[in-house]
Amino acid sequence: MTERDWDALGRQVTQWIKEAGAQLRASLSTPLEISEKSAHNDLVTNMDRHIEKFLIGKIRAAYPEDRIVSEEGFGDGAVDTKGVLWLLDPIDGTLNFVMQKRFFAVSIGIYEEGEGRAAFIYDVMADELFHCICGRGAYQNTKKLAALTSVTIEDSLIDLSATWLKPNRLIHEEIMTEIVKRCSGTRAYGAASLELAYVAAGYLDAYFTMRLSPWDYGAGLILLREVGGSYSRAEGQPLNILSKTSVLAARPGLHHFIAEHVCKQVQGGRFIRELDGGHNH
Ligand code: IPD
Ligand code: CA
Ligand code: CA
Repeated sequence: MTERDWDALGRQVTQWIKEAGAQLRASLSTPLEISEKSAHNDLVTNMDRHIEKFLIGKIRAAYPEDRIVSEEGFGDGAVDTKGVLWLLDPIDGTLNFVMQKRFFAVSIGIYEEGEGRAAFIYDVMADELFHCICGRGAYQNTKKLAALTSVTIEDSLIDLSATWLKPNRLIHEEIMTEIVKRCSGTRAYGAASLELAYVAAGYLDAYFTMRLSPWDYGAGLILLREVGGSYSRAEGQPLNILSKTSVLAARPGLHHFIAEHVCKQVQGGRFIRELDGGHNH
């Protein structure tokens, strides 16, 4: 296999993702076809499908050997991480897309033999692209993101998906209480890729959620690692990039602090289980 020109790929993907963004912005002035998937808050629109097909068409034409794992089912699916794998979410934050018409993203993470190589997360309405080619630094549009430094729990702003609190029998409802009480504040934006990009950009200090799929976190984790951030499953165990999994992503020291907190809670009898079905925002 010849070495890929990642800079050329970066330029191509930037063009495709911005084109997708323009189509999404235009779609907001026409009626959307909306349907429910697994629950009333698990929505899919005609635009989720359209954008996924559009991007897959571009990827397949340019990189026919690569495999694609994508949310709406037009990709290849993948059981292993061999070769080049694209993790694609055509609209991350569909509930925001439908209800707020803002704060949603197109997310593309590219892995080679299981290693992150490039990431693109496009906040469509803000026209803000978080991106990196691994080893060359991460960017928010043209601004280079700084390497992440540590922060105390007291000085941190933590993004908690409501999955930790909902009565879903997966996590004891008290498990994050101490973290919530001690930190400076909590946030939840409803688009995992952007929330991960915000941790990478230093706008948030940590992000914690009980269930994400590969297309939700694929790009965000690559971006985060590029700036020295840490990630794992909720209780600190390594994360398999093809799994539906809990995700804890944070500045380096804070990541250890929260993972240790979760472990202690579990040892003290407060349970935590990985979600493997249904839908829970
Ligand atoms: C969802 C969002 C949300 C997260 C859900 C995801 P979707 O993605 O990222 O923030 O909490 O778990 O499924 O369905 O809008 O692409
Ligand atoms: Ca998503
Ligand atoms: Ca989606």
